[in-house]
Amino acid sequence: MSLIKADIGSIPGHVTVAKPLMTLAEKKMAEAQKAGIINSYYVFNAGDDTELLMTHSKGANSPEIHGLAWETFMACAQKAKKLKLYGAGQDLLSDAFSGNVKGLGPGVAEIEFKERGSDPVIVYAADKTEPAAFNYLLYKIFADPSNTSGLVIDPRMTCGFSFDVLDGKENKSVVLRSPEELYSLLALIGATETYMIKNVTRNDDGEIAAASSTTKLNYIAGKYVGKDDPVCLVRAQSGLPSVGEITSPFLHPYLVAGWMRGSHWGPFMPVGLKNSKCTLFDGPPRIVGLGVQVSDGMLAADDDGKPMVVDLFDDPAFDLARQEAMQMASFMRMHGVFQPARLGPGAMEYTTLPQCLASLEGRFKKEK
Ligand code: 13P
Ligand code: 13P
Ligand code: MG
Ligand code: MG
Repeated sequence: MSLIKADIGSIPGHVTVAKPLMTLAEKKMAEAQKAGIINSYYVFNAGDDTELLMTHSKGANSPEIHGLAWETFMACAQKAKKLKLYGAGQDLLSDAFSGNVKGLGPGVAEIEFKERGSDPVIVYAADKTEPAAFNYLLYKIFADPSNTSGLVIDPRMTCGFSFDVLDGKENKSVVLRSPEELYSLLALIGATETYMIKNVTRNDDGEIAAASSTTKLNYIAGKYVGKDDPVCLVRAQSGLPSVGEITSPFLHPYLVAGWMRGSHWGPFMPVGLKNSKCTLFDGPPRIVGLGVQVSDGMLAADDDGKPMVVDLFDDPAFDLARQEAMQMASFMRMHGVFQPARLGPGAMEYTTLPQCLASLEGRFKKEK
């Protein structure tokens, strides 16, 4: 299962994806399905990011699948340019596709697995934040027994899970086992400016449980080009966390880096697809959660062949989180452009702020 996404243009500003772009992406996916490249697909948006969810039998990092996503995004960007939509082609940082979209701008989460009797998968896609926004989420799901009682109650899960953690600055990674190395794990992933979780596997058999995108657009481009709005795939049930354990971290929102100009801390608000648009101060950062079942290599479909996708956060159960998120948003906005509403100096290095400060450089006088 591959989830590949890019911001290829939006309306108005950075709010949401325009309908004609979604229609074009869907057309490209339908053609690819007909040609036998993919088995099934679902196109949706997380704020201003276009998301291509695909099932296929080509494995992770397949040049054919990545090529399909790249061509689809290129075609959509062309359309966005014609319509003069905002940030047309924003996340397509190079013209030179050479087999894999990683490092070219789009975000990718892929999981490859042998189907069990029944395979539920939760698809997370976020806007106005960065991959490390999933650190807290994945910790709660796979390492915190107060969230996931299966870690205590389900004998197939008491072995715990391993986290593959990427150092995004040094481009190196380390695998840490929970619960044995939980404190070391938290020491790393609590530092969201540097560390992000690539994937999670079950300790006793190495079964893949989750995978997350880890693109760092600004490191690739060397300048601010928007945040690396992330995606994540999480497998559920039968010896993996239940669907409810995967969604329950969103009983309360938490603060993530991104929001306006990728430069502010804001609450991570769970929303249904109909509210997947970033309005207030270009936010607040939002996440959609979709539930699917994988069945014989396909997204399980209804009688008309349409994939059955359950919009998990389109539910009153998450109203409290949304209310709390807006209280947090209001509180953070009272600080204007002052810290801690604004990101720390390290993270601000990758925004447009240094360009503003450059003009002051010559005016500083050494204090006696
Ligand atoms: P499974 O062990 O079948 O995944 O059931 C657990 C469950 O659904 C708890 O909500
Ligand atoms: P995106 O990364 O979602 O394009 O947002 C960019 C931005 O600057 C929002 O204020
Ligand atoms: Mg954008
Ligand atoms: Mg975005």
